[in-house]
Amino acid sequence: MLGRLNHVAIAVTDLKSATNTYRDILGAKVGEPLDQPEHGVTVVFIELPNTKVELITPLGENSPIFNFLNKNKNGGIHHICYEVKNLELSINILMKNNYKIIGDNPKIGAHGKPVIFLHPSGFDGTLIELQEE
Ligand code: CO
Repeated sequence: MLGRLNHVAIAVTDLKSATNTYRDILGAKVGEPLDQPEHGVTVVFIELPNTKVELITPLGENSPIFNFLNKNKNGGIHHICYEVKNLELSINILMKNNYKIIGDNPKIGAHGKPVIFLHPSGFDGTLIELQEE
């Protein structure tokens, strides 16, 4: 089912400071902040040679990452995103095996492709995002 690692998302409390660290100290290729109201986050993409890192910070009052930042005051790894060839097929397999999907239907993710989130309870406490290739 799983293809490439698409990105690792890190929840941050201070997007500017985190962005500066990745750009100025770690020497990474860092993009501009991008508001994603439908996901309740502002994102900065960091391009690495083999994958991406996304710095995410809450946007709006109902951001799904407020809870995470309440539990992890300094921020931390929020989710990892794997690519799959066929998202519907992957969802069917997971549901047949009683893994919990978050939300009903795939949404269009940060990269303009359908994504779905899998509940951490089935994956050793790790929130997993699947993105169609
Ligand atoms: Co993501």
